[in-house]
Amino acid sequence: MNIDLSIYDGMQNPPSDDTGRQYYYMAKCREIVSEKSGELNRPLRACVNTFGCQMNARDSEKLIGILELIGYEITEDEHADFVIYNTCTVRENANLKVYGRLGYLSNIKKKNPHMLIALCGCMMQEEVVVNKIRKSYSFVDMIFGTHNIFKFAEILYSRYMSDSMIIDIWKDTDKIVEDLPVERKYPFKSGVNIMFGCNNFCSYCIVPYVRGRERSRSPKDIVEEIKKLVDDGVVEIMLLGQNVNSYGKNLKEPVTFAKLLTMVEEIDGLKRIRFMTSHPKDLSDELIEVMKNSKKICRHLHLPVQSGSSRVLKMMNRKYDKDHYLKLADKIKAAMPDISLTTDIIVGFPGETEEDFLETIDVVKKVQYDSAYTFIYSKRTGTPAASMDNQIPKEVVKDRFDRLLKEVQTIAAKQTERFVGKTMEVLVEEKNSQLAGYVTGKLSNGTTVHFPGDETLIGSLVNVKLLNAKGFYYMGEME
Ligand code: 5AD
Ligand code: SF4
Repeated sequence: MNIDLSIYDGMQNPPSDDTGRQYYYMAKCREIVSEKSGELNRPLRACVNTFGCQMNARDSEKLIGILELIGYEITEDEHADFVIYNTCTVRENANLKVYGRLGYLSNIKKKNPHMLIALCGCMMQEEVVVNKIRKSYSFVDMIFGTHNIFKFAEILYSRYMSDSMIIDIWKDTDKIVEDLPVERKYPFKSGVNIMFGCNNFCSYCIVPYVRGRERSRSPKDIVEEIKKLVDDGVVEIMLLGQNVNSYGKNLKEPVTFAKLLTMVEEIDGLKRIRFMTSHPKDLSDELIEVMKNSKKICRHLHLPVQSGSSRVLKMMNRKYDKDHYLKLADKIKAAMPDISLTTDIIVGFPGETEEDFLETIDVVKKVQYDSAYTFIYSKRTGTPAASMDNQIPKEVVKDRFDRLLKEVQTIAAKQTERFVGKTMEVLVEEKNSQLAGYVTGKLSNGTTVHFPGDETLIGSLVNVKLLNAKGFYYMGEME
């Protein structure tokens, strides 16, 4: 990134706007980093470890953008001068992983006492977590949350200036701070936040409590960001929001998600548009129409069903029933026969009976998903479902989970077969890590393809003949 911090050097007080204020603190941090690395006679190294979803992945790119600008060298090795965990709390497993890794980090820190450790992200928005870290993991240096991640440089500066743990968590925010640095993991593709937070309160889900209320960015800011990305070599973007279908409803001048897509479509040089995630309750006909007529929107819709039972869907507060979902899936497939539908499914929601579970299997069979993420229900303290009666015994859930997974895999394998023999466009993403002389990329519908090729292809769109399907990926050859 070409950002000149020198205009902030020597400034007595931070500017009054949020963006300027953060650059002021970045300049301050940069002085300290440069001093320390001078003392050590080597660059300082930082490692950002990301847990969870694409939102967190994008947030980590923002953290890395700031770290690089202030002079840290980025490493994947946790034996670093600064380690940051960007955490997830959507299921309990995610939390347990963080506690486990913190034990390991404490050993590294014992050998290297000047090491800094920061925790941020969704888990930190939970009071119980912060209390536990304060008590049992006192070697942690900084804790901040999802709403004030933009303040990273300012919080880091506070830590440089003090010797105790800095905790800065906001309960919620209506702020969106634009134009901060960001360093992409891939040069040719990028996530783009279009909105933050969620207002849906599905009864099992902790996200609305840790990510706050829905806030949309203005279409102008989004389009400008994408234009800059395209100028910088990006060909594929993923528009990110917990529920993109409610994008723009709360803007001063409301804009629909479909309308935003048409604006993004017009950006010259952009080749592919993806988005994530769509809630089935408000996926509009307008969106289907825009997708159908688009040259750039990928032939993929991730449409989480969560359960096939209308009774369970009601308890989940999903605001649609089985029939609505099936009709919607049919409508989408009728408009775009080559589309890939993928989904999320939760097994073992409180009160789920064998009949309810069979309804889920029935939906899976009827929709014929290209792939499905299957989750075992995880009780999240503070959500309505956590205090529901009839939590399902572990063995029953495990049995249902295994049966569901088998069904999903069989159908996905069959779905993948349907394009064998066809030549399709692939965005080449990386060198194949298993097969020498091969590269790996993605079809418009999101499926992975491996084929012979070299690194020079990375970032380009090429035509590949799909020779055979291997369950959920293809082997191919370039045409
Ligand atoms: N237990 C299990 N899965 C959950 N998800 C969200 N909350 C829970 C929970 N408490 C799943 C949903 C969602 C995906 C991102 O995570 O399927 O779509
Ligand atoms: Fe959670 Fe439901 Fe919001 Fe998705 S839509 S983040 S599942 S509350």
